[in-house]
Parts: sequence; C-alpha cells; structure tokens
Amino acid sequence: MGDFAFYPIQDYGPLMKGLAIGGLGIFHVFLAQFAIGAGFVLCLLQWRAWKRGDELARRFLDGFFTVLVLVSFVLGAVTGVAMWFTSIQVSPRTIGMMIDEFHWVWATEWLFFGVEVAAGYAFYRYRNRLTDSTRMLLLVAYSVAGWMSLFWINGILSWQLTPGEWLLSGGVWDGFFNPSFWPSLLYRTFAAATIAALVAILVVHVLRNPDGGPATREDKTRLIRSLSILFLPTAAMPLLGLWYLATIPEDSRSWLLGGSPAMSMFLAGAVATSTALGVYAVVGLFARKLYVNVGTAALLVGLAFVATGAGEFVREGSRKPYTVREVLFSNSLTREDVDRMRREGSAHRDPYPIREEVPDSQLELGARVMRLQCSVCHTMDGANGMLHLVGPWQTDQMRMNIAKLQHTKPFMPPFAGNAEELEALVQYLSWHRAGRPAEWRAEDLADVLVRNQIWLDEAGTAPGRAHQKADGR
Ligand code: HEC
Repeated sequence: MGDFAFYPIQDYGPLMKGLAIGGLGIFHVFLAQFAIGAGFVLCLLQWRAWKRGDELARRFLDGFFTVLVLVSFVLGAVTGVAMWFTSIQVSPRTIGMMIDEFHWVWATEWLFFGVEVAAGYAFYRYRNRLTDSTRMLLLVAYSVAGWMSLFWINGILSWQLTPGEWLLSGGVWDGFFNPSFWPSLLYRTFAAATIAALVAILVVHVLRNPDGGPATREDKTRLIRSLSILFLPTAAMPLLGLWYLATIPEDSRSWLLGGSPAMSMFLAGAVATSTALGVYAVVGLFARKLYVNVGTAALLVGLAFVATGAGEFVREGSRKPYTVREVLFSNSLTREDVDRMRREGSAHRDPYPIREEVPDSQLELGARVMRLQCSVCHTMDGANGMLHLVGPWQTDQMRMNIAKLQHTKPFMPPFAGNAEELEALVQYLSWHRAGRPAEWRAEDLADVLVRNQIWLDEAGTAPGRAHQKADGR
C-alpha cells in the first residue's frame, strides 16, 4: 500500500464530519473577521478622538467596544484552536499536507497573531494612561497585525481551491499567491470592515453618558455617521465576488451555478443577503446617513452572519471532490491511491474496529469502505444520509451508480476499491435499508463481481467532469 496510512478514526454519529468543520468554521470566520475589521473601527475612532477632539468617539472606543473586541478576539482564538482540533481528526492527511507545504507561512501567521494579541492587550490594559499618539500606534499595530494574519492564512486556504502554478512547480510562493489569492483577500478584508462596522452601530445603542444615563439620540446618530465611511468598500463586494468566481475552476463554478442544488441555494442566499446588506449600507448608511435603531442594527448583524455562513459553505463546498484541488480528494485519498486501491483493495487493511454489530465479515468490510471513502461527506441516516439518497434504487442500480461515483455526481471522488469492496458496500447499505436484520444472505457472488468489475473499469479512475453524461467515457 505504499505510504498510505490509516489515521485513527473519529465517529461523529449523525453529524457529518465535513459539517462539523464547516459549522465551526462559520463561527470562527465571523469572529475572526470581526476582530480584524474591529481594528479598522478602533483606528477610525481613535483618529477622530485624537485629531478632532471627538470625546464621544473616545468614550465609545474606551468603553464597551474595546471590551467587545477583546471578548470576540478571545472567542475567535478559541474557535481557531477548535478548528485545528476538529480538522486534524476529520482530515489529518489534508492538514499534514498543508503543514508540509506551508510550515513557515503558518509560523509567520502566528508571529503576526502574537503581535495582534500583544498590541490589543496593551491597549486594553493601559488605554487610560497612554498619550493619543501611543494609543494610535498600538491600534495601528493591532490592525496591521490582524490583517496580516488574514493575509497569510488566506494564501493557504485559497491554495486548497486554486493551487495554480504550484501543481507544476511545487513552489511555496506559487501556491501562496495562487489565482484566487487577491480576490479572496480583498473580499475578506471588505467583509471584515462591514461586519465590524455593523456590530459597532449595534453596540452604539448601549453607549452611556458620563453620568450613567443612556446616550442621547443625537450622540448615537453622530457616532453612526462617523462609522459610515467603513461601509463604502461594501459597494465593491459584488465585483470582487465575480472576480473570485472567475478565478475558481470551471467545475467548481458549475456546482455553484446549478450543478449542485444545495450549493446553488447557498450561493443564492449569500448573494441575496450581502446585496441587501450592501444596498442598505451604502445607500442608507453612507449616502443618506439614516439613523439605525437597535432592531434594525441587530437585523443587519444577523444578515451579515448569514451571508458569512452561506459564503463559507459555498467556498468549502465548491472545492469538492477535493480538499486540495487535483491532489487530494475530500476523503483524503490521492489519485494514485485510487488506482492502487482499485487493484489491491483498500479498507480490508483498515486496522480499526467497527463499532456496530454486523452479522458477517462482508458487512464489516462494507462498513469499513464507507468509513474510509464516504463518511467525510455522508452519514447513514443523518446529515446527507446515505439511506435517503439510495432510497428507491434497485441493488443493481446502486452497484452501478456507486461504481461510477464520479460520474453519478462529479463532485464525488471516484470509487476507490475493488469489485468485492464495492459489493461489500452495496450489501452494507442494503442491510441497513432492510432494518439491520440479524441474518443476512448476499446474492450469488461470482456473477455480481464480474459485473461490478465491468462497471468499475467503465468508470475509470479519473475524476468526473461537470456536465458529463452518467456513463461519461
Ligand atoms: C466530497 C464529498 C462526498 C464524498 C467523499 C462522497 N459523496 Fe456521495 N454525495 C455527496 C453530495 C454532496 C451528494 C449530493 C446530495 C444531494 O443531492 O442532496 C452526494 C450524493 C450521493 C448519492 C446520491 C446520488 C444521486 O444521483 O442521487 C449517493 C448514492 C452517494 N452520494 C454515495 C456515495 C458513496 C457510496 C460514497 C463513498 C464511496 C460517497 N457518496 C462519497 C458528497 C460526497
């Protein structure tokens, strides 16, 4: 089996593994982008306090907002660690490859993260004792370091979808400055500014007067107006979105534009929410300087969260069937693995036990095949549940469609196993569909295996392509 290693197995029950990362990722990205955008808000407010003597801006900055930034920053860091924790469980091989390739880039990111932490904390701790110029300096350091941590991580994440020249050269910088690097960096930068400014206009409403009473509407309006400049870049986001779409691979684009109903739906959701937000922010907040009450502000923050979530879902999903495009499939197998496993089999070498009780060794093998090849995107009857998907299929139809998995749906990797393993998987699914009876008799094997082999050979091991017919040869 060459260098293929079976990593220890994690079982998330009805929660699909990919979803565990995605769900966590949405919170992490939202918090992290807020913390970065908050740097811009803090600098803007400090600039006004310092250069224009705007005491209101200073009060807002020194009060609740700084605390909020600190809290979100800590939560962002905690969810970041949680991301590492889940992703090394779900996809250790992907993480391993990312660390192999981008070791120093990651180290650099952490360096900036360290500066961000130090500057942010120093400001929080000593803000009342520092001169305006030192305060400004600390906040600029916080912002720049925060943005730089985005800069570095963005190169790694965008490389996963568009590795570009790296595929040929293997050079770190070819991978880092990949085709979607700039559109993705700019989009995230502007999204960060928008999110932070929206959260700021929400927390303007908890501002207090020096005497402890609630702030006047005039004060709140003035603050909201001074923040509105941060909404201006929002107007460029649709263009950046299009630029981003133009840089991603053609088949990924096709999943988004109708090839995969779920993906298209999320893309539509992301576009609709961010357009609504953008129009309101630019027209209402920037141009017409509308006053925003608590309810509306909360709604806007909610929309920004939905837009971020849908956007992340789309970004992660459009990478299918890969975690590293052209190199590593979502189930952590390479094309060479698939070729070899077609000949030599795959899951029978998996040394880890199966938790459920199965009546015979064929079903046990089937359970291992599913765990190795499918469980990152499917569960049996939970999220993206297999039983639901194969529901009405005849057994033969199941055999053929799974043998030709990458043509059945081109966002799935090719089946990586031999004819026996295909049969074991089909029997395992059928056994579950039959309600897991204590006794299970499979059909006459020899005949079936010959047909399975023919279908596997017809499918080939090349990844499926969008818009190809089901039997695409
Ligand atoms: C990269 C993620 C991924 C992997 C790995 C994956 N699938 Fe899928 N599969 C999907 C998605 C997404 C769908 C679409 C679900 C929908 O339409 O709601 C799907 C759909 C299916 C369907 C329904 C197809 C149809 O035409 O309706 C079957 C059957 C299926 N998968 C079986 C498998 C099997 C068996 C494996 C493992 C050998 C596997 N999948 C591996 C993501 C994946």
